[in-house]
Amino acid sequence: MSETSADISPNEMRVVDVNGEPFTVVNLEGQYYAFSDTCTHRGCSLHEGQIVAQTQIQCPCHGARFDMKTGQVLGGPTQESVKSLPVAVQDGKLVLGGA
Ligand code: FES
Repeated sequence: MSETSADISPNEMRVVDVNGEPFTVVNLEGQYYAFSDTCTHRGCSLHEGQIVAQTQIQCPCHGARFDMKTGQVLGGPTQESVKSLPVAVQDGKLVLGGA
């Protein structure tokens, strides 16, 4: 479990350490989602990629695409999805991984 403040603007991404593993938190239309920042292809940082379509992140290195809501891989050179974590809002903070 990890916490960060909830002041993330729409479509902004922030990297949060969760037990030593970087996760990207994103605000999509007022809902917060968290997924592993490490691309399952060769390990590039997904938060440095581009948001394509409404809920997809495209890896900056070789173009793998993931659903930011679920972590599911949608295309590109990997078949492996990234982990996603539930995000709860508590007292103005985002709690990753459940309370
Ligand atoms: S490292 Fe992400 S697509 Fe290659």
